[in-house]
Amino acid sequence: MIPRSESVALMKAAAPTIEKLVAEHKERREHWYFHEFIPWEQGRNYVDEPWDKSQATLAPEIRTALLLNLLTEDNLPYYYSTLAVTYGESEAMREWSGLWTAEEGQHAVAMRSYLLTSRNVDPMVLEDDRMTVVQRGWDNSITDPLDLFVYTATQEKATFLSHFNAGAKADDEIAYKLMKRVAADENHHFMFYRGVVTEMLQHMPSEVLCSMAKVNASFAMPGTTMPNWTRRSLEVAKAGIYNHRVHAEKVLIPLLRDWKLDQITDLTPEGDEARDFMMALPDQYLQTAELFEARIAKRAKKATAVAV
Ligand SMILES: [Fe+2]
Ligand SMILES: [Fe+2]
Repeated sequence: MIPRSESVALMKAAAPTIEKLVAEHKERREHWYFHEFIPWEQGRNYVDEPWDKSQATLAPEIRTALLLNLLTEDNLPYYYSTLAVTYGESEAMREWSGLWTAEEGQHAVAMRSYLLTSRNVDPMVLEDDRMTVVQRGWDNSITDPLDLFVYTATQEKATFLSHFNAGAKADDEIAYKLMKRVAADENHHFMFYRGVVTEMLQHMPSEVLCSMAKVNASFAMPGTTMPNWTRRSLEVAKAGIYNHRVHAEKVLIPLLRDWKLDQITDLTPEGDEARDFMMALPDQYLQTAELFEARIAKRAKKATAVAV
């Protein structure tokens, strides 16, 4: 797919900033070793002692969140190929994509090691679903560099929250420390992508805003093709780990503020319309969140009444 001419121009204009952001990331990143986070002493032979649900120590919704996050990380080959094809011409992006892939790769290794060692996942479900996820690939329609920067800025922030909240709500010291460490990487990735978009906004604000409106109108996290996505993401949403409220309050509102979208001047009519769409988006998410929360509360009330 040939990128839009505006995206090619933006990549050129942002090239020095991209180089600077890659250098900043290399300075900021902390090299860490996943093996130091795993409770290896808890490991047992699965042949002698097959997995049973009763061995799990984490709450079911936390286990679901960690499994969903891990299966999403497992699809790394597709994310790398998208980055490599979309940003192929840029030397700095080639360097970024390599480093980013190496860092992302550790997330799946670390989470898999933790879940298998602590017996907080059914190992057969994990492997069967991994096979399916990787065979299905990533349902990604984004092929333009500008759109991909806009998407990844939002998605990395969402991924940071999804990992961090899963660990924070786990009520388990090891899970908390590990997921906080993984989330810190995601936050650094977010800072890189946000920085590129910030720079691009300086050059072609209307074009970037139109991209934001387009990408956010159909935003979906990369794990949607995994088996039982709807059931699993609903469980994660109910637990408050990642849902429409989190997306509005912790992803969209901070992003709109960081990018100072309300202060941009000299927009084309299309750019202005796109900005209106973006400024109204958090409220739309919050309205959906309120309906969802009301439904959950109603069901809980009904369940309590039946139990009584
Ligand atoms: Fe990751
Ligand atoms: Fe990431």
